[in-house]
Amino acid sequence: IMSELRYDGQTVVVTGAGGGLGKAYATFYGSRGANVVVNDLGGSFKGEGKSTKAADVVVEEIKAAGGKAVANYDSVEDGEKIIETAIKAFGRIDILINNAGILRDISFKNMTDADWDLIYKVHVKGPYKCARAAWPYFRKQKYGRVINTASAAGLFGSFGQTNYSAAKLSQVGFTETLAKEGFKYNILCNVIAPIAASRMTETVMPPEVLELLKPDFVVPLVGVLTHSSNKHETGSIFEVGGGHIAKIRWQRAKGGLLKTGPSMTPGAVLKIWDNVKDYSKPSYPEGPADFMGLLEEAQKLPDNQPGEKVDFTGKVALIT
Ligand code: NAI
Repeated sequence: IMSELRYDGQTVVVTGAGGGLGKAYATFYGSRGANVVVNDLGGSFKGEGKSTKAADVVVEEIKAAGGKAVANYDSVEDGEKIIETAIKAFGRIDILINNAGILRDISFKNMTDADWDLIYKVHVKGPYKCARAAWPYFRKQKYGRVINTASAAGLFGSFGQTNYSAAKLSQVGFTETLAKEGFKYNILCNVIAPIAASRMTETVMPPEVLELLKPDFVVPLVGVLTHSSNKHETGSIFEVGGGHIAKIRWQRAKGGLLKTGPSMTPGAVLKIWDNVKDYSKPSYPEGPADFMGLLEEAQKLPDNQPGEKVDFTGKVALIT
């Protein structure tokens, strides 16, 4: 028997759904029974201007294919208005895809406060405002699915994108905490670092590569994570694009332990440095280290010894 994941009767809000990835999500949900709120401010990829056209075109496309959709033209900074559109049109909100985005790439040396603040507003405040407005509905109905959008730039850094990197990594912490707070209400939240051809990336990648990176190749993972059959996958980070899908997680090195007190000198840190950076037997933490346990163990240690450092003359120096 062939069957497909469907979203009949559910309402999905997709921000920045006038183009790129957002449009691909919106048309997907529209084709699988959901009511879709197509939000888009309709400005340039640098966040200038606005227009109703971007959202309208996608709404018409979904309707022409037999789906249900309404447009919303507010900025994600006014997230409560976007969620209000969902409630007014469809009476509910089940899935929130925080996707809207812009770029203000510039070297850090030349970054202005305006470049920094605008990226913060769209990529940090926007997802917050949308999720905050949807949250009471999710809790009340004991159902919600959220996708936030990070980026490789946030996870790894990227030239000319300090503003964007900082904002995008914020979505990891935001998602991890929402996942923890939401789980008991059946609100599952995940964050993706996508890669896809869009107006955002069309100038930085050659056409033959872009062809292999259709937004459509990001959609199925998002479809799975936001489906009601997903009961447990939450608080996770996914890399997705061009057919590749992989979870990403934190890794903790073996680490070293020092007796706290006067003998805990920089030289003592050098002494255990190999352990501090030893990833040969990593652990994969989902929370901070067990400081109470570690403290207790550290107290049992003898006083720390100074470390050795080879200086440029080849002499070994004892560092205290
Ligand atoms: P896109 O530029 O095609 O789509 C973004 C949409 O968001 C646009 O239609 C734009 O009008 C809308 N938008 C911008 N500011 C808005 C605001 N304040 N309120 C409402 N709508 C607004 O870009 P793309 O590539 O589809 O990006 C989607 C998301 O994925 C963004 O968050 C982006 O940062 C992220 N991303 C994309 C990558 C890629 O390879 N395309 C890589 C990593 C992250």
